[in-house]
Amino acid sequence: MTRTFAVIGDPIEHSLSPSIHNAAFKALNLDCTYIAYRIPRSELKEGIESLRQIKISGFNVTIPHKIEMMQYLDESSPECKMIGAVNTVSNENGKFIGYNTDMDGFLEPIKKRSIGISGESVLVLGSGGAARAIVAGFAKERAKKITIANRTIQKAQELSKFTSGLGVESDHTTLSDVDVSKYKFIINTTSVGLKNESSLISTNKINTNHVVYDIIYMPMSTDLITQSKKNSATIIYGYEMLLGQAVLAFQIWHKIPAPYDTMKKVLLGGV
Ligand code: ATR
Repeated sequence: MTRTFAVIGDPIEHSLSPSIHNAAFKALNLDCTYIAYRIPRSELKEGIESLRQIKISGFNVTIPHKIEMMQYLDESSPECKMIGAVNTVSNENGKFIGYNTDMDGFLEPIKKRSIGISGESVLVLGSGGAARAIVAGFAKERAKKITIANRTIQKAQELSKFTSGLGVESDHTTLSDVDVSKYKFIINTTSVGLKNESSLISTNKINTNHVVYDIIYMPMSTDLITQSKKNSATIIYGYEMLLGQAVLAFQIWHKIPAPYDTMKKVLLGGV
C-alpha cells in the first residue's frame, strides 16, 4: 500500500517540501506520496485527528504549528523537548513521535564547510520559532556567547533567557545597536528579506572573518547576503538549511540514506 506523508501548516501552498520528498521517492522507487495539507491555527486538533485516521506515515510541521503540535505527540525526542518545538513527526505503530530536524539541518552546512563553532561568538537577528532551534544548535556546539537582536526587545530578552538556560552566555540588544565586529557568526532568522527589503543591520563592517547565514530561501539571496558576499564574508544560504532538515526527516521516516543530490537539484530548480 502506498505510504502517505505530508507537511502541515498555514499558509502551505508555496511549500517546497512536497517537490523535494516526491522527487526523492521517485529516485529511490519508493511507493510513497507527500502532500501539502493546510490546517488553520484554530483547527490543529481536528487536523491531527484526521491524520491519525488515515494512518499517515509521517509529516512535517511548519508555521504556525511547531510549538502547539508538541501537545499532540505521544512521545518526543530530546531535541524536541529542549527546543520546545517539533518539525517532523513519525507514525510508529500508531504512536506519533516528534523530532526536530531544524536544529541539525541548520548546523549541517556549517559542518560541511568545516567551520568551527566552539568558543565563537554569535549574533542572532530575530526571536521567533526558528531562532529557538538555531540557538539550541549553537548551544549544542558550545558557542562562547550568543547575542540576540530583535525589533521587539522583550522577545529578545526572553530568547536570551532561554539561551542562558541551555548553558551558554547570552545577552540581547536592539537592532540599531548591533556591532558586527564582536561576532564570527551573523544569522538572520527574521522575515526581513523575504520581500527584498534592505538588511536590518549595517553591512559596512562585515568582512572576510564573518560567516553570514540567512535562513530565508526565497529569494535565494537577500540584501544581507548580497552585501556580505561583496565584503568577502563566508556565505550560507537558506536553502541549505531547508535541504538539511528535509534530508534528516527523510532518514527518520525511511531509515535509509536520503538521495541528497536529487533533493538539492529539485530545491535549486524551484528557488
Ligand atoms: P519564525 O517562527 O519563522 O521565526 P516569527 O515567529 O513570526 O517567525 O518571527 C519573525 C521574526 O521576524 C521576529 O523576530 C520578528 O520581530 P518581532 O519579534 O519584533 O515581531 C522579526 N520581524 C518581522 N518583521 C520585521 C521587521 N519589519 N523589522 C524587524 N524585525 C522583523
